[in-house]
Amino acid sequence: MTAAEQGESPGERLLVRDLAQLVTHRGARAPLRGNDLREVEVVENAYVLVEGGTIAATGRMSELGSSAGDLVELDGRGLSAIPGLVDCHTHACFAGDRVGEFALRASGASYEELHAAGGGILSTVEATRAAGPAGLRDQVLKHRGWLLRAGTTTFEAKSGYGLDRETELASLRAIVAAEGIPTWLGAHAVPPEFDDADAYLDFALAEVLPEAATLAEAADVFVERGAFDVAQARRYLEGCRDVGLALRLHGDQFTELGAVPLAIELGARSVDHLEATGVDGVKALGASDVVSVLLPASALFLGRPMPPARSLLDAGAAVALATDFNPGSAFCESLPLVCSLACTQLRMAPEEALGACTVNAAHILDRAGLVGRLAPGYQADLVLLDASDWRHLAYHLGGDLISAVIRRGVPLPRD
Ligand code: NIG
Ligand code: FE
Repeated sequence: MTAAEQGESPGERLLVRDLAQLVTHRGARAPLRGNDLREVEVVENAYVLVEGGTIAATGRMSELGSSAGDLVELDGRGLSAIPGLVDCHTHACFAGDRVGEFALRASGASYEELHAAGGGILSTVEATRAAGPAGLRDQVLKHRGWLLRAGTTTFEAKSGYGLDRETELASLRAIVAAEGIPTWLGAHAVPPEFDDADAYLDFALAEVLPEAATLAEAADVFVERGAFDVAQARRYLEGCRDVGLALRLHGDQFTELGAVPLAIELGARSVDHLEATGVDGVKALGASDVVSVLLPASALFLGRPMPPARSLLDAGAAVALATDFNPGSAFCESLPLVCSLACTQLRMAPEEALGACTVNAAHILDRAGLVGRLAPGYQADLVLLDASDWRHLAYHLGGDLISAVIRRGVPLPRD
C-alpha cells in the first residue's frame, strides 16, 4: 500500500526544520535482514517537508530551497527525527486489568498456573464481554492514545478476549474505529462454555469467521499447551487463509510444539514470541520469508528467557519487534522501551532495533510502502526525540524522550 492508495486527504504544509539528526532505513526493500537491517542513513542538520499528510522531501538544511505559500514551521533544534513507530503485535482491545494476578505472580505464582486455574486470559475474557461495544470502543481509543504518546503511529490490534461471536466482532469493529489494523485472534483460548478446543473451533470457523473476515486483515492463533495444538492451529489457519486473511501465529512462547514449521508451510506473515525456539527453528526461520516477531517486554514481564534474537539475525531471519501490549503478559505500550530491551537483552544494534519496529513491522502489516521510513511519498509519520543522537531511542531506558509525535502530517497535541 502507498500513501496515494490510502487516499490521504490534503492538509496544510509543515516544515520540521533544523533537526540535529534524521534517521531512516534507505531504499524500499522489505523485510530487511542481515546488513540491510543494520544500515541506516543519518542526516545531520536536517529538515522534513510535509504536504497533504505525505512526506514531500527530506534532506540537509543547506539544501532546503525557499518555498512559497502557507507553511507551518516546527523548530527541530536539538531534536532527532525517527520514522513513526509501527507496533505489529498488540492485544489493545481488552477491558479490566490483571493487577491482582500481577501481584500474585510477584509472590511466586506462575503465568501458566494462573491460566490453568481459569484466571489469565479467561479473566480478561469475562471483563471484555461485560464491557459491551461502546465500552470496547472507549478502551481501544484510550490504548491508542497511550501508544501514540509512546511514538507508535501505526498499530495492529488483535481480538481474542471475546471468544463469542458478538464480542469478537465488536472487538474488531472497535479496533477499526480507532484506526488500528485488526487481526482476528479467534483461537486465543478455549472459552468456558466449550468442553474442548475442537468444538470451539467448529463454532468459531462456522459462526464467526465469515463476518470476521470482512473486518480483519489477518488471523492469529495461540499454539501452546492448554490453548491450541498444531493440528487445531492448521485447521483454523487454513479456514482463515481460504477466505483471504493473512496468517500470524503465537508460537514457541513456553513450549516448542511445531508452530515454526507450520508457519513456514502455510506461508504465514509472522510467527511471534519464539522464546522457546531451538536451533532447528532458528535455522528454518533464517531461510524463510516468515518474519520472526520478538516481544522482549513480554519475556521480561513474565520473567521468562529472552528469544534467541542474535541467532535469528545471524541466521538471516527477518526480525520485527513489538510490545505484545496486553493486560496479562506485557502491560507495556512503549516501543522505545522494547528497543532498549532489544539492545540490552537481545544483543541487537540500535539500527537493527529501529528497522525491526519500523520497516519490518510495516511489512508484516502489508504497509511497507506507506509507513516505516522517512522518505518522499511515505505517510508523514515521525517522532521527534529530545536528543541530538537518535540512538537515545534505545539508550534512554524508560526515559521521557519523546518531544513530539506527528501522524499523517499532524502534530499530536501536547498535554
Ligand atoms: O501474546 N500468549 C498469548 N497471548 C498473549 C497474552 C494474553 C494474556 O495474558 O492476556 C501474549 O502473551
Ligand atoms: Fe500476543
